[in-house]
Amino acid sequence: MAEKTWVRMVTAQTPTNIAVIKYWGKRDETLILPVNDSISVTLDPAHLCTTTTVAVSPSFDQDRMWLNGKEISLSGGRYQNCLREIRARACAVEDKEKGIKIAKKDWEKLHLHVASYNNFPTAAGLASSAAGFACLVFALAKLMNAKEDNSELSAIARQGSGSACRSLFGGFVKWIMGKAEDGSDSLAVQLVDEKHWDELVIIIAVVSSRQKETSSTTGMRDSVETSLLLQHRAKEVVPKRIKQMEEAIKNRDFGSFAQLSCADSNQFHAVCLDTCPPIFYMNDTSHRIISCVEKWNCSEGTPQVAYTFDAGPNAVLIAHNRKAATQLMQKLLFCFPPSSDADLNSYVIGDKSILKDAG
Ligand code: ADP
Ligand code: DP6
Ligand code: CO
Repeated sequence: MAEKTWVRMVTAQTPTNIAVIKYWGKRDETLILPVNDSISVTLDPAHLCTTTTVAVSPSFDQDRMWLNGKEISLSGGRYQNCLREIRARACAVEDKEKGIKIAKKDWEKLHLHVASYNNFPTAAGLASSAAGFACLVFALAKLMNAKEDNSELSAIARQGSGSACRSLFGGFVKWIMGKAEDGSDSLAVQLVDEKHWDELVIIIAVVSSRQKETSSTTGMRDSVETSLLLQHRAKEVVPKRIKQMEEAIKNRDFGSFAQLSCADSNQFHAVCLDTCPPIFYMNDTSHRIISCVEKWNCSEGTPQVAYTFDAGPNAVLIAHNRKAATQLMQKLLFCFPPSSDADLNSYVIGDKSILKDAG
C-alpha cells in the first residue's frame, strides 16, 4: 500500500529596500562581501514586495523553483548557497494534526518546491533581488524550523544577493561590511524602526519596467575591475557619509538626509560612467526628474525631496512630509502629463498606484 504522503508549506512576504548610501562593489564574489557599508530604507510591505511559498514533501523528487509563474533553475551558486546554509540549520518539525514528523537528519534528503512572485518589476532597478532572496531565506528558515535570528538570517540572505541582507528588517537598516574572511560579521542591523521617521513619504516613479541590460552583479564586477572612482568612493567617501547619514536619520534632519542621499546616488552613477565599458542605468527621463527636484529644492532654500536611483532608470523620491509629497506629485504630473507621450507613466505612492504603467 502506498505510504500516506503530505506537504508542509510556508508563505512569507518581504518588502524591498532602497539604499540611500549605496552598496556597489564586492571584495569577495562568492561570499558576497562588499567594499563598503551601506544604509537603506525598507519600503512598506503593502506596496513593493515579494511573496514566496516554500513547500516540502516526500513526494518531491528534486528541488524546483518558479519565479513570477515561470520555472527557473536552482542550480546557480546563489540559490545553492542559501539552500545549503538553511538546511545546515534545519531542526526537527512535528505537526500532529497533519501527521507530519520530520527529524533533523531528514532535511538532507527531502526536496523543496519554491514559488515566488514580485508585485513590482523584476530586474528593473527596484531591488527585486533584495526582496526575493530575503523572502526565500526567511520562508525556508520558518519551513525548516531554523532558530536563527534576523541578523543571522541576513548573513545567509546576503549570499543570495548582497542587498537582500537589509530586507530582513523594517525602518532604516545598515549593512555592516565586516572584516572576517568567512563573512560571518558581514550582516545587517536595524538603525531605527519604521515608526522613528514616519512622516517621510516615498514615491516611486516607474520610468521603465523593462529588465535592465546590465545586472547589478555584472555591473559592479566591471566597476571593481576598472573604476578608480570606485576605490576612492569606498575608502574615502562612504565611511564619512555613513556616519553623517546615521546622524541625520537619528536626528530626523531632512536637509542633511536629502543632501547625502542625492550625492550618494549621483556618485554611484558616476562610478557606473567611470566603468569600462561605461554603464548607463539612468536615462533622459531620470535626468529630467533630477533637474525638477534640484530646481524645486533650490527655490525652497531647504530640501523638500530626496531622490535616489538604484541600478535602473526608476526614481525613488523621498518627500519630507505629506505636504511636500503632494506638491511633488503636482510637479511630476505637470512635467510628465499622463495624457501625452511622456515616458514616465506610473507612480507608486503610499497606498496608491495611479496611472497605468505602459513600460
Ligand atoms: P534588481 O535591481 O531588480 O535587484 P538584479 O539584477 O539585482 O535586479 O537581480 C535580478 C535577479 O534577482 C533576477 O534575475 C533573479 O535571479 C533574482 N530574483 C528576483 N526576484 C526574485 C525572487 N522573488 N526570488 C528569487 N530570486 C529573485
Ligand atoms: C545599486 O544586491 O542586486 O541596488 O549582490 O550582486 O546580487 P548582488 O547585487 P545587488 O546590488 C544592489 C546595488 C544597488 C545598491 C544597493 O542596493 O545598495
Ligand atoms: Co538587485
